[in-house]
Parts: sequence; C-alpha cells; structure tokens
Amino acid sequence: MADPSAADHSGQVVIVTGAGSGIGRATARAFADAGALVLGVGRREEALEETAAGQPRIAVHPADLRAPDTPQEVIDVATERWGRLDVLVNNAGATKVMPLADTTAAGITELFDLNVTAPSLLAQAALPHLRRGRGAIVNVSSTYGHRPLPTAAHYAASKAALEQLTRSWAMELAADGIRVNALAPGPTESQALAAAGLPAATVEQIKQEEAARIPLGRRGEPREVATWILRLADPATTWLTGQVLTVDGGLELT
Ligand SMILES: NC(=O)c1ccc[n+]([C@@H]2O[C@H](COP(=O)([O-])OP(=O)(O)OC[C@H]3O[C@@H](n4cnc5c(N)ncnc54)[C@H](OP(=O)(O)O)[C@@H]3O)[C@@H](O)[C@H]2O)c1
Repeated sequence: MADPSAADHSGQVVIVTGAGSGIGRATARAFADAGALVLGVGRREEALEETAAGQPRIAVHPADLRAPDTPQEVIDVATERWGRLDVLVNNAGATKVMPLADTTAAGITELFDLNVTAPSLLAQAALPHLRRGRGAIVNVSSTYGHRPLPTAAHYAASKAALEQLTRSWAMELAADGIRVNALAPGPTESQALAAAGLPAATVEQIKQEEAARIPLGRRGEPREVATWILRLADPATTWLTGQVLTVDGGLELT
C-alpha cells in the first residue's frame, strides 16, 4: 500500500469533515502525519478526540453540518486558529436504504442536506481563504456516484450531484488557481452501514456480497482511500482539476 505520509503537507491548514470515523479519521491522521494542521469536524466529540489522540496537529470541532450556520462556523474556527486554509475535504456523508416505494421528502432532504448542501456551503465559506493560498477542494463521492444503486437511489443521486459540483466548481475556480477534484471510494470498512441503521446481520451480509463482487476480492481499508485524498490535495499535484478518481478494487469495471 502506498504510504500517505510520503506526501508533504507541512504548513498547510486542512479541514476534514466526518473525521470521527472511517475514511475521515484515516484522512485526518494521514494529513497530520504529512505535516498539516488539521481541523476534524463531526457530531461526536469523543470520536473526534479519539482521532486526535496522540497527534497534536489535529484539533477538533464537534458540530452538526446540517445546521445552517455550521459551515461558516467551521471555516471561521480553522482560519481564526491558524490564519489560513489550504484544503477542504468534504468527506462527511451518509447513506440510506430507501427503495422508491418507501421514498419520502424528509428522507431525500436529510441525505441531500448532508451530502450536497453542507459541502456546497463549506466550499462557499472557504472560498476567500482558498483563493488567497490557491488551495484545493476534495469532495468524497462514491463509486455509486456514477453507477446505479437499486434501493439506495437517492444516495447515488446525492453523490452524482457532488461529482457534477466538482466539475463545475473546477471550471468556475480555475482562474483563482483553486483545484477541485473528487475521490470516489468503493465499499470501504467504516461505520457507514451501521450508521444507516442496518442491523448487524444485514451489515455482515452486505459486506460479504460486496467483497465477492469486487475484482480484488475484498472491501477497502480507510487508509487505502485516504492516501488518494492526500494526493488529490497535494500542492505538488499542480495540473489536475475537475476529475473524479475511483478507488474501489476494480468494482467500477464490473
Ligand atoms: N465506506 C464506504 O463503503 C464508502 C463508499 C463510498 C463512499 N463513501 C463515502 O465516504 C465518506 C465517509 O464515509 P465513511 O465510509 O468513512 O463512513 P462513516 O464511518 O459513517 O463516516 C461518516 C462521518 O461523517 C460524520 N457525520 C455524519 N453526519 C454528520 C453530520 N450531520 N454533521 C457532521 N458530521 C457528520 C460522522 O460522524 P458523527 O456521526 O459523529 O457526526 C462520521 O464520522 C462519506 O461521504 C461516504 O458517503 C463511503
């Protein structure tokens, strides 16, 4: 596995949302190991503190990203603390099993508030700071942002929206020197399935089915995803923007 700590992010200030578990935790730690100052955001303070344990370069800010004032507050906390912002990683997200027959307006709103609206408002609030440092945005999509997902269509649609935001913002912000890319992971070990409210036996069944469908024969580990988030954000990655990179053990090919 490539070592994310090989990247050099010294002196950079990075915000990682959803840093209390899974891909966000691995990403926050990898950025800190690579020299960055990191603000980890999520609702559960204990989970964030666990991410930060033993790593003085990670600070935490517990907050619900669905609350209308949170995005600006998060950007303010990072910039008031460190005086700059170089990278925004929009990682916090949720999935939801919602077959069409059971679809509700509230269910759609809940998903889109977190997966689409919060990343948009965070990016907006980050803009003046990213302009100053010619920074980068990395949006965390999903392999299902560009392939169908029966019974969770609105999750897939929310990630498809994030991929289109990525491409459009890349064009819109290119003149400012801000790069915008997306990382689309396949099934990765995390709390996502449990957080979707699925019973443990169902989670286990889904995991086994996913592993069987993935050409490389297993689900991913958060560090295997984090390493590519760092590369997309790397200041040395100077000429890449508007791209969606799928890291999924080959699932996209099936
Ligand atoms: N794991 C996979 O198989 C997979 C595959 C493709 C894409 N992804 C995407 O990868 C990203 C990370 O997910 P993960 O797999 O690492 O799952 P995870 O372990 O469930 O992490 C999601 C994080 O988001 C935070 N979060 C959820 N709702 C929030 C809210 N309202 N406000 C602030 N933070 C909130 C959670 O912390 P709190 O509960 O403490 O708030 C949690 O730490 C998501 O965007 C997900 O869609 C995951």
